[in-house]
Order: sequence, then C-alpha cells, then structure tokens
Amino acid sequence: MCGIVGYIGKRQAAPIILDGLSKLEYRGYDSAGIAIFDGEKINVSKAVGRLRVLQEVTHGGETMPGLAGIGHTRWATHGEPSNVNAHPHTNTAGTIALVHNGIIENYIALKNRLISKGYEFKSDTDTEVVPQLIDYYYKGDPLEAISKALHRIEGAYSFGIIFKDHPGEIYAARKSSPLIAGISEEGAFIASDVPALLKYTRNIYYIGEEEIVRLAENEIHFYDSDCEELTKEPVEIKWDQDAAEKGGFDHFMIKEIYEEPRTVRDTLMPRLKNDEIFIEELGMDDEEIRAVGKIHIVACGSAYHAGVTGRYVFEGMARVPVDVDIASEFRYRNPILDETDLVIVISQSGETADTLAALRESRQRGCKVLAIVNVVGSSIAREADRVMYTWAGPEISVATTKAYSAQLIALYLLALKFASAKGTIDSTELHSYIEDLKRLPDQIELLLARQKSIQRFANRYVGAKDVFFIGRGIDYAISMEGSLKLKEISYIHSEAYAAGELKHGTISLIEEGTLVAAVATQKDLYSKTVSNIVEVKSRGAFVLAVTNEYNTDIEKVADYVIYLPETASWFTNSLAIIPLQLFGYYVSVGKGYDVDHPRNLAKSVTVE
Ligand code: AGP
Repeated sequence: MCGIVGYIGKRQAAPIILDGLSKLEYRGYDSAGIAIFDGEKINVSKAVGRLRVLQEVTHGGETMPGLAGIGHTRWATHGEPSNVNAHPHTNTAGTIALVHNGIIENYIALKNRLISKGYEFKSDTDTEVVPQLIDYYYKGDPLEAISKALHRIEGAYSFGIIFKDHPGEIYAARKSSPLIAGISEEGAFIASDVPALLKYTRNIYYIGEEEIVRLAENEIHFYDSDCEELTKEPVEIKWDQDAAEKGGFDHFMIKEIYEEPRTVRDTLMPRLKNDEIFIEELGMDDEEIRAVGKIHIVACGSAYHAGVTGRYVFEGMARVPVDVDIASEFRYRNPILDETDLVIVISQSGETADTLAALRESRQRGCKVLAIVNVVGSSIAREADRVMYTWAGPEISVATTKAYSAQLIALYLLALKFASAKGTIDSTELHSYIEDLKRLPDQIELLLARQKSIQRFANRYVGAKDVFFIGRGIDYAISMEGSLKLKEISYIHSEAYAAGELKHGTISLIEEGTLVAAVATQKDLYSKTVSNIVEVKSRGAFVLAVTNEYNTDIEKVADYVIYLPETASWFTNSLAIIPLQLFGYYVSVGKGYDVDHPRNLAKSVTVE
C-alpha cells in the first residue's frame, strides 16, 4: 500500500514529511514524492526507488522550503514505477497537488470526460484524474470542490491535498483506505498509518468513511461528504513503533490475513461493471478467447496451488482444457505447446526465477503469456505479453495469504470471461456467479470473526508430528495450500492428499490421534469425502472438517467442524483457505516461531 504524510505548522515541512515517510517504508513502495508550498507556489519533487533517493535529491528537504506540504511513497497499481507516475500529482496549472492511496475504479471514464473538457494528462495513473477533477469543480472553496469530486469517484482512496491559494491549510479525505490525523505543538498532521505520527503525538484521529479533513497550523476540522462539520475525539495509541507498523497485529501475516476482504474487493470490483466482467488487461476479444486451444497454468508454491484451483474452475465452468505445472518442472520437460495455447503464469513477487524461465520458454515457443502478478513493473510483469494485476498491496510476510486469495479472484474472473465467451454459461448464471463473488469479502469477514476458536483448536496441535489435508476436486486444491501454510511456518510435516487416493498407500501412516483436515465443500463429492473421513477415523485419526454450513450431518463423523458460508461451489476455496491460514498461523505462534520470517525461506525465490 502507498504511504501518505502531510504536515502544516511552524517548522519546515519537508524534513518532517520525509521522516514520516521513512516510518511507512515497511508498507512497500517503488517511488516517492513530496509537494511543499513555499509561500508563492507549490514545488514538487519525485524520485523512483528508495526514499533515500528523494532525500538525496532534496538534500533532506532543504531544497523544499515551506511550512505546509504532503508526501507519498507509491506502491504502483496503475502505471509503471516512474517519476511521471510517482505522486504527488497536480492539476495542469500546478495550483493543486494531491497524493493518493487506493484505486480509483472509474478513473478511465473520469479521465475521458476531463479530456473532452480540455484537460491534459501526463501519467498512466488512476490518481491523476483527481487533482484535475477537483480543479474542474474549484471556484475558490477547497471543501466544496473536494466534496463534489468525491461524489464522482468510485473506488478506494485516502487523499492528502494542498491548494496554492489556501497556503495555511491542508486537506484530506478517505474512503476504504486508512487515513489518520493528529495535532501537537509542532503542528497538524495527516498520515496513512500510526508509525508516521508516533514521534509527534499519540492522540490520533481516525478519519471515517467519506469524511473530509481540513488542517491548519493548530486546528483540525472534520466534515462529512456534504461538508457538514463533525466532532471527533482522538484515540490514544499505546503501541510501540514495531507494533504500530503491524497495525497493532502481532505479525504481518495475521495483519495480511485480515486484509483479505479488502484485497478480494480491490482485485474484483474494478473488473465488474453492470453485471459484466471487464478484463482489459487480457487484450483478447471473445473470438480470440474461443480460439484458445488449451491453457497452461505455470507457477510455484502457493501460486501453483492457486493454479490447481484455476484448472478445476476453467475446465468446469468454461470447458477449456487446462494443464497446471510447477514451473521448475515445466521449464525442463520440453512441454508440448501449440501457438493457439495460452500460458498463464502466476507470481506474487513477479521475480520467481523458475516462473520467469517458464514464461520465457513459452514465448520462445510462440505462445501468448498472460501473467497474474502482484508487483507492478516486476520482471514477469515486464516480460509477459499481458499482465493482470492482483492489487493485493505489498505482502510482507514470507507466507503468502492475501496475494494467494487475490490470485484466486483473478482466476475466477478469467474463467467466467472464457465461459461467457464460449457460451458455456448464460447471462443468468453469470449474474449469479458475480453476485456470489461480490459476497466473498463479507463472508471472509465472518470467518475471520472465528479467529479465537480456531486459535484454541490450533493450540492443541503445536506438538503434532504429522498432519494430513485431504479433499476431492477443488477441495484437494485447497488442501495443498492449507498443508503448505502449516508446514512452511510451523515446521510440522504435512501432506495434502486426494481423499480418494489415501487407500493406495498413505492411509498406512494414519495412527491414533493423527490430525486429518478434511475439506468437503463440493456437493457432488461430499458423500465420498465423508466416506474417506470414516476411513481415517477408523484408524484413529482426529478429524477437522471444513464444509458448507448446511452439512451439519458431518458432525456424526468429524471431531471438529468449521462451517463455511454458502457460495458457488467453484469459489469455496476463497472461504476454506481462511480457517486453514489461521490454523497454520496459530500453530506457528503457539510454537513461538518467527512467523513472518520462517527458517530457510525467502519471500521471493529469485534463484533456481
Ligand atoms: C507461499 O507461502 C510461499 N511463500 C511460496 O510457496 C511462494 O508462493 C512461491 O515461492 C511463489 O512465489 P511467487 O508467487 O512470488 O512467484
């Protein structure tokens, strides 16, 4: 996620803003910028790369005199990392400067409308439409102009804004993306997150949904979206710096698990309009989609597991033949590829060596490659023919959670796009699937609310030696990811097994008390998975079942049941993964391990 800091007060603003941005570096970014009002005009300085570059360019802020300003660290979503795409962005006249965290879902429509009114744009970002839109409404009253602009904007945002002819003020606004404000004897502040302000104040104002803030040197005013003034009490922050970077969570992993509802929403909503799916990045019309002979999904680790889910969904929904390969196998097995095949590579980091090699191998053989990637401008993003971003924001914990969930959403959308183009689903079915997708974020929230009971269950297994995850069909796919989550951060041996395959050998490993997690969400396979549960129970297993909320009969055979809210069978992995991620997390915490930095592992495996 991007970082925002704003300051107005008695001291030079630039050094304070740069210092505040340095406290937000943990959020991940690829460029930075600052805008300061010097008494006559707004000066802007930007730099790609680490914040250090901007600090050097501005001599620690000395080249940017002034008592009011805004700063930004950018995590690219729309537009590669570059100076022109870095924030702050301004209106054409340079009299309004703005920084933004979030995604403007309708930026293309707004941009086209503003261009038709004579506005020009320099960047590829969604953000740049906002200062121009405010300019369009600005008649001298910043609050009025901001309010009118916000009523036109769809999506998630937190903004910091300065106006040349209102030098004694800074403005801010937010919807879905966090933003806070604070005041001290140094002056008044806005920031994306607490760490940036702890040095100056522990009394923080949390800006509410669709609220606007006006800051002057020693005053803060809050307004609703209709410019009605609000009163707000500050909250005293008791966290230390380290806890503040994790938003009060104990680890980045649990923080990122709790970000999954928003990650799913951010990846999904900009691609849904009027009951249709728009995947501009795919760059294929329906005829080209129908011409695809076969899909090859290639990835590593959790991204590979997302690909296994993708195969079930693509083949089940769109009746497209799909192969799924581990990238390190694909690249050396002399794969049989046809030029009508589509290769989809999946990678959170966009830098995984084996996946990058598989991409290059595919392109050398004449195949189009679509990359599903989380990091804008990464190697895989740059070398693929097409890129579909997951917009999960930076993922800090080595064990992936929110990026994996976003990958599932990207695959569902692609499968629905293919199914619609091929006519294997009709408009009624498409509508129903879209409604199910829209419900996922709230349903994930419901599952997160069961954190405590899952933690209690996990604590019983910190001493486990072997844990098995079993399922059939799409439930087998999620068992793979549940197993990896457990073993990579708790170091407990775990295996995922196709439930129907157990009897061909592995069931000999089941002993008294062995934990078996059985995922049973597929209606047509449910009774068979229940039979497999009985098989392992009869050999002494303790069974954790993950199933749909209407399958209460499973309590006759399973020892502990986690029920999932109702959704389309193709999408159940997005729900089943939540308790499995929480289970792995709490077993690791229970063992006292460094959850975010598990032994022997790196966040991105950039070597073979
Ligand atoms: C998952 O928790 C692991 N961190 C690992 O399996 C990871 O998914 C794999 O290395 C692929 O990484 P990528 O998505 O960045 O390519």
